[in-house]
Amino acid sequence: MNKWLWPVFSVVIFMITGCGDNDATDQKLISLIQRHGLTGDPSACRIIPSIEDEKAQLGMKLFFTKTMSIPGDTACVSCHHPLLGGGDGVSIAIGTGAVDTDIFGYDRELNASEAVYYGGSTGPTQTVNSPTTYNAALQDRFMAWHGIIEAADPDAGFNGSQGGIYDPDSTYNPDNTRNIDPFAGENIPAAQSRFPVQNPIEMAGHGNEIKGLDSFGIRKILVDRLTGENNNTFLTPEQRDAWLKAFRKAYDDKEANATTLITDANIYNLISYYERTQLFIENAWKRYVEGDTTALSEDAKKGAILFFSNYDEGGANCVQCHKGDFFTDNDLHVMAVPQIGRGTQPDGDSYGREEITKDPADRYKWRTMSLLNVEKTGPWGHDGAFTSLRAMVKHMLDPSTPYDSSQIKQKGMQNLDTVEVRQQKALAQLEYNREHGISPHKAVKLSEEEVDQLVEFLKSLTDPRLNDYDFMKRWVPDYNDPESQLLNLQEAKFLPPEATQP
Ligand code: HEC
Ligand code: HEC
Repeated sequence: MNKWLWPVFSVVIFMITGCGDNDATDQKLISLIQRHGLTGDPSACRIIPSIEDEKAQLGMKLFFTKTMSIPGDTACVSCHHPLLGGGDGVSIAIGTGAVDTDIFGYDRELNASEAVYYGGSTGPTQTVNSPTTYNAALQDRFMAWHGIIEAADPDAGFNGSQGGIYDPDSTYNPDNTRNIDPFAGENIPAAQSRFPVQNPIEMAGHGNEIKGLDSFGIRKILVDRLTGENNNTFLTPEQRDAWLKAFRKAYDDKEANATTLITDANIYNLISYYERTQLFIENAWKRYVEGDTTALSEDAKKGAILFFSNYDEGGANCVQCHKGDFFTDNDLHVMAVPQIGRGTQPDGDSYGREEITKDPADRYKWRTMSLLNVEKTGPWGHDGAFTSLRAMVKHMLDPSTPYDSSQIKQKGMQNLDTVEVRQQKALAQLEYNREHGISPHKAVKLSEEEVDQLVEFLKSLTDPRLNDYDFMKRWVPDYNDPESQLLNLQEAKFLPPEATQP
């Protein structure tokens, strides 16, 4: 329903049903929806490709193939499985060098020989949690937790496809601003996908073949694998033929040769094509905003009122950061989620946005994540420090809530014994930011029942189709197809229970 019809709509409701308790709740919520200008549809005016599109189909194969990792053991999907919330179900990702690459979730472990590179620890080698690929087409400003991928013109609302993109290949100016990367690709998901393949921890490994190579050099090896250029024999002629066939189909060109079609730019634009088809926004909250007052439970409605109300109205004011129909202000804030695992600093800490801008004022700032499907995208926080949504919500209400590290289920996690020191440092930064008007956040005390209501509301942001395997299997290749064998697609043989239980 058009938001301008809401006043009429609420008056009609009032006349039909009188003024019971439920209607009071609906009226309050409807007026909050109007105040925040919500329409329920974050995809309005966007062109979203279909998963049936041939380009998306090829993008899926590239996303699933282990051929895109230098050691040949990891794919994008190893950390971003469409049946695992578009992530990997663990706090901190483990990429190349896993003991069994078909194992996903808490049982995924790093090979002991690989661990040599990380001071002998077989724990996770990344420093952050794998964010979801869901709704990648709706991201307009940042990718990654500290926004290392950034659209220069986020207001355009075009997924970063206009105005240029900053990314890890950007050069820095003397004042620490970055220059646009002319090779970034069509949009921010395309720009993003060029980097895991050349990161030793994610997909590139530590072998001799990448020694001394820059980002372009490593990606060239991958192109050569698919084309067979430079005498590359990683794939058999039969396998290369299968890729050429797939590229010819996607670009609807039966004649073109491998070197014209299988290019560095095409590969990452195709991967982004696949990611951009993952639009999962058909949730109960959207139905409510569009006018169906029966779409939400009473608890979810009360939780929504807490979420969207100001502090002085007794609300939790989550909306000041988790704004709009996509539930993000596209900005970064200090919320003092404590760093666990290796971190990027010698003491196991990580500095967030400061590591990109080199500005100490940005220390501990991380990106405000969208909350659509958040129930499915755990563990939560930039490092997956929270393994229950409820614990994450309690932290958002009051970041000084003592952190309970016993919730971490991932094996070999480093630095859990010193986590409190790092939480205190981040809290001191939050306090400083509050005192200097930089952080709008105030701690809010709610009853346990109200916390439950907030969680109920967040669950109403889940697209129920994510629980429907028959629907979701379109984002997973058909492993019975002989072509899948030839293309060396990653198959998840051991998904954790979260992936299969609604
Ligand atoms: C080892 C696990 C791993 C692999 C393999 C991996 N990723 Fe990621 N991905 C991550 C992590 C961790 C981040 C967050 C990085 C950061 O914040 O610095 C991320 C971030 C992203 C994001 C940004 C999402 C957002 O909203 O910020 C996208 C999109 C993405 N990856 C796609 C891909 C693609 C495409 C590939 C394959 C080319 C890939 N990933 C391979 C772990 C992985
Ligand atoms: C001052 C801005 C701000 C406010 C207010 C705020 N958030 Fe957040 N939220 C963030 C940031 C920033 C992150 C990422 C923090 C991190 O990972 O270090 C985040 C992360 C989250 C996450 C985890 C997302 C994920 O994918 O891991 C949830 C859930 C969440 N917030 C819910 C809430 C709720 C509920 C409220 C209100 C009680 C709230 N937030 C208030 C900025 C805010």
